[in-house]
Amino acid sequence: MSPMFVPGPVDVDPEVLAAQARPMLPHRSKEFESIYRRAWEKSRQLFFTQSRVFIVTASGTGLQEAAVRNLAHQDILSCVNGAFSKRWHEVALANGKRADLLEVAWGKPITPEMVADALRKKQYEIILVTHNETSTGVENPIAEIAAAVHDMSPETLVCVDAVSSLGGVKVEMDAWGLDLVLTSSQKCLAVPPGLALVAVSDRAMARAEQVPNRGWYFDLVRMEKHLLKDSSPATPALSLIYALDLQLDRILAEGLEIRFARHRAMSQRVQGWAQESGLEIFAAEGYRSQTVTTLSNTFNLDISALNAFLLERDMRIANGYGPLKGKTFRIAHMGNTQMAEIESLLATLDEYLSETTAIRLKSL
Ligand SMILES: Cc1ncc(COP(=O)(O)O)c(C=O)c1O
Repeated sequence: MSPMFVPGPVDVDPEVLAAQARPMLPHRSKEFESIYRRAWEKSRQLFFTQSRVFIVTASGTGLQEAAVRNLAHQDILSCVNGAFSKRWHEVALANGKRADLLEVAWGKPITPEMVADALRKKQYEIILVTHNETSTGVENPIAEIAAAVHDMSPETLVCVDAVSSLGGVKVEMDAWGLDLVLTSSQKCLAVPPGLALVAVSDRAMARAEQVPNRGWYFDLVRMEKHLLKDSSPATPALSLIYALDLQLDRILAEGLEIRFARHRAMSQRVQGWAQESGLEIFAAEGYRSQTVTTLSNTFNLDISALNAFLLERDMRIANGYGPLKGKTFRIAHMGNTQMAEIESLLATLDEYLSETTAIRLKSL
């Protein structure tokens, strides 16, 4: 194992990796259909939902596309406070939808008040919100945002990108009244990349039936017809589903509450360490991610050199994303990562910081 403190793809347990080596089955066979069924049924527990969950052979971006194509004829409100929420907005526009931006500075959260304000001005069919902005390390208050939507505009469907939080942070789809929640396999679920999961409410399915031009591959109505037969419209990535099936058992055996507490504790440790070290946390206080911490590069570190130092010790972290490259760097604490691994990363970072400070002081 090489601890990858990067926000996906994360390290995968060797047994889960090995599960992929199981021989193929015909995907329309009873044997495979029963694996598929137990995988999607188990995954409902991660979403805290009684609704259907589609397991799709794609990465999360594919499901960003599915959301806008299936649930809106035209009018979408995109909440943007980072690179991945911005991508979702671009996906909406690329699919010919009329999407309005509710944008705040990167590092700041989307608040329920902002959403209520936007809904007061215009009626939207769906709102797109990203739970955990992996670029900035901001966790948006989804439950409160959803409550504001239900108050102001009950017909508006709430769509949530939980790509870098689901399975690491509690997302209560049914209790919060969310209509579509999507995630990818390679982050908190700790499965290799290539699968995306989406839970869809009954009223979102009813909306999809009314929306034309949903496309073919990501048509939720078509997926539902197949799911009723424990199957998918096209050939699924069987090997990845074998891995997901096993990893779901491992996640549920750990216990969801314990898993969430582990993620929270690791985020608090990293963020506490950052503050003690004089590093600035990029995300606004009160809205800091439990799965990835984005740090401002206040010491002007060469992130490639830092990663080369870490790699010699079998570790790696992530540079800032997009426009934040070089200006920030990110420490992920998600998936199977344990506190002991975080401790050894922080000790190594301390070593690096004291070496670079000594070099800097000498050159003054
Ligand atoms: C919050 C968020 N949304 C969407 C995506 C895109 O997901 P994928 O790379 O699985 O398509 C990412 C990827 O990092 C992400 O972090």
